[in-house]
Amino acid sequence: MASDPHKPVLLLAGALCLALVAAGAAGQDANDQAKEKAKDQAKEKAKDQAKEKAKPASPIYGVTVPDGLRDWRLIAPALEDAPLNELRAVLGNDLAVAAYRDGTRPFPDGTVLVKLAWERMRSPDFESATVPGRATTVQVMVKDSRRYPESGGWGFGRFVDGQPVDAGQHETCFACHEARVSDRDFVFTRYAR
Ligand code: HEC
Repeated sequence: MASDPHKPVLLLAGALCLALVAAGAAGQDANDQAKEKAKDQAKEKAKDQAKEKAKPASPIYGVTVPDGLRDWRLIAPALEDAPLNELRAVLGNDLAVAAYRDGTRPFPDGTVLVKLAWERMRSPDFESATVPGRATTVQVMVKDSRRYPESGGWGFGRFVDGQPVDAGQHETCFACHEARVSDRDFVFTRYAR
């Protein structure tokens, strides 16, 4: 039997079709994967936002206590006389530490400074030593120049036992920082080397 002169053409067309279908399927796969990934990312973001929303936020500014701050780096300690009698430590996130080291002022958006405070306690182990007693407050300053144009670009939060204090107290934050240290981007604490 004479071979069909169309056979090679048909075979080629068939192979092409298969290749196209395969390529199409692969493309579809990649597409699906990208879609899945975008969905996952959106879900993650929504979860983060919900978590952030669920956190107690300060009045006026909506500032929350940052996660993981206990692992932040030390800017400087401080000691407060009576009647508060507190030991304090000011900590900064990475942006804060870099700005302090490089002398960048104003601090860039995203800078966060936290002041931890404890009652001053005589060491039970050594008379002349003072050590941290009960934790009293956590105070937070967040730099976001677009969100807080009226307070030098800083949002403030003061928390006792994880809960923000009232609006009245938050009205005093910027006033005091502005009155004393407006020439240092409203930040008191200097980097302790
Ligand atoms: C009467 C003045 C005064 C008021 C009011 C005040 N602060 Fe401060 N703040 C200070 C001083 C002084 C320091 C320096 C560290 C220290 O002495 O404890 C400081 C330090 C800080 C720091 C560390 C960064 C820095 O500037 O050194 C944060 C964060 C902070 N305060 C947040 C707040 C918040 C939030 C409020 C309002 C609820 C507030 N402060 C109200 C005087 C004040």
